Amino acid sequence: MQLLNGLSPQQFLAEYWQKKPLLIRQAIPGFTGLLSPNDLAGLACEDDVQARLISLKKKQWAVRHGPFDEADFARLPKQDWTLLVQGVNHYVPEATGLMAMFNFIPHARLDDLMVSYAPKGGGVGPHLDSYDVFLLQGLGRRNWKISAQTDHTLIEGAPLKILQHFETEQEWVLEAGDMLYLPPQIAHWGIADSDDCMTYSIGFRAPAAQELGQEFLGYMQEQLRLSGMYTDPDLALQVHPAEISMNMINKVSTMLRQIQWNEGHIADFLGRYLSEPKPHIVFEPNRKINQEKFTALLQERTLHLDLKSQMLFWQQRFYLNGELLGEKEDALQPNTHRALETLADSRELQTGSLKNEEIAVLAQWLYPAYLAGFVEFAA
Ligand code: SIN
Ligand code: CO
Repeated sequence: MQLLNGLSPQQFLAEYWQKKPLLIRQAIPGFTGLLSPNDLAGLACEDDVQARLISLKKKQWAVRHGPFDEADFARLPKQDWTLLVQGVNHYVPEATGLMAMFNFIPHARLDDLMVSYAPKGGGVGPHLDSYDVFLLQGLGRRNWKISAQTDHTLIEGAPLKILQHFETEQEWVLEAGDMLYLPPQIAHWGIADSDDCMTYSIGFRAPAAQELGQEFLGYMQEQLRLSGMYTDPDLALQVHPAEISMNMINKVSTMLRQIQWNEGHIADFLGRYLSEPKPHIVFEPNRKINQEKFTALLQERTLHLDLKSQMLFWQQRFYLNGELLGEKEDALQPNTHRALETLADSRELQTGSLKNEEIAVLAQWLYPAYLAGFVEFAA
């Protein structure tokens, strides 16, 4: 695979993923980016887009959050700043093809596509990320320095996490189409080596144990259906009426041991949690049509996931943007199951080879998602 320096995805996963950096010259030959500097600035002016302007003035770092307007950009100095825009894959249709090149990593691990713009010399400073990232160079050139240093001391009081010391271990200049893979916790420092330097960060997420635990307990709370009530026909006279007795502790402990989970609960939790859109994301509901009309359209047209949608599955259960499709008890036949797998894997679905009854079943499963704006028909 050219994208991986001639390595197969299996070799990349075994040797590099979460283990060590990999520089890939001409990972995507001819790649110069998906959007122009002006397009990126335009995105940073939209209300629902997460954008940051980072600047360094007299050795002081400053961060401003979007949305920005034209005047913000007009006021910027010639040098020493960078614009970062998150979730570009949610707004730019061409990003779907780029993200699909990284399908050798499960969608459940995918975070988003961030794009940066900087004039020569600009960057976000030396730092660490807790996530895996592929840094793909678009327009211009960027100098990357990396280090596996164990000194993670941060500059105190800075508005973003910048390392106090940085010891360069390896250094390269990346040109359009070159890519650097970094596992978590590798210190890195990217400095624009030309004007109009645009870097595409295909980022992955890894939830912290604490976050998973809290979210899972929240999920379990909603699932909880415990039976019975505390009873104590064996109550013995206590010396201290205010004391919580061992007898009470044992009884409650037995009651709480009813709270149990299996892999079905974990999968159901992960399907919902990992496909849940970030809080700032909003979907535009589609114009209301009836289910019959939706079924007819499904027969004729290609259906695709909205750019902001995330779809995952486990066995017979399909999750779209935090919600379960169909009913828990519903079972799919092999053809309809395969069709939904295709929609989840490739973000689009053509029903050409399916029977009318099968399309009707799919329509039943997908109609609410269509109304919510989670899926769309290709023009
Ligand atoms: C950038 O594109 O300037 C920053 C990417 C990163 O260091 O994670
Ligand atoms: Co970084």
